[in-house]
Amino acid sequence: MAKPIPVIAIDGPSGAGKGVITQRLAMFQGYNILDSGALYRLIGLAARREGVDFGNRPKLVKLAQGLDISFFGTGDPENPLSIRLANEDVTRELRADEAGVDASKIATIGELRDAIRGLQRSFKQPPGLVADGRDMGTVVFQEAEVKIFLTASPEARAERRYKQLKDKGIDVTLSALSLSIHERDKRDMGREIAPLEPSTDAVIIDSSAMTIDQVFYRVLAVVEERLD
Ligand code: DC
Repeated sequence: MAKPIPVIAIDGPSGAGKGVITQRLAMFQGYNILDSGALYRLIGLAARREGVDFGNRPKLVKLAQGLDISFFGTGDPENPLSIRLANEDVTRELRADEAGVDASKIATIGELRDAIRGLQRSFKQPPGLVADGRDMGTVVFQEAEVKIFLTASPEARAERRYKQLKDKGIDVTLSALSLSIHERDKRDMGREIAPLEPSTDAVIIDSSAMTIDQVFYRVLAVVEERLD
């Protein structure tokens, strides 16, 4: 029998540190990465560009099915991924808070989530995958060997996001970000389909009072325990 391809699912709310931990872990393990939030952000961006109304579900699904996207490693640890839509680098546009809000809105559509499930699963390639999102452990990779639910207080998350976006030269205020995080949490946790919640077999880590290094070593300890 073929050797199973291990999956490490990292779910949690916006700003909990999933992106950084996913990148560090993938680099450490030599695994592939799925940034599932980027897929929802890309569909939102493509819809805006093509003037597709977010209420037009069939058109959104069609758009998602025909997406011409690609991910490239840049070799830059600060910005490791270059994301392209029809061969145009849209990484910076995707990182804006507005792109996250759009993504959270279209992510409530069940047909759309179904339409990109196969694409998400296609990232499961040898030697393994670290999948970052909201429903990686609960829906897309229920079979994942390791499931982490990474969370932090809304205040800690707003401050981290603020610093991250400022460092990238993206203009935001802390109060606007706090409000946006609050609304995004409400939408992501309250939706009917694949709501953000820890899988029953996930290890929950609250990173509010932890440094990135502390979170990384805690996650690594779980990975080593579960993958051996
Ligand atoms: O992780 P992110 O901030 O890039 O995600 C943007 C939005 O996309 C998030 O608020 C909800 C949605 N999302 C989702 O519903 N399921 C996922 N697996 C990933 C993201």
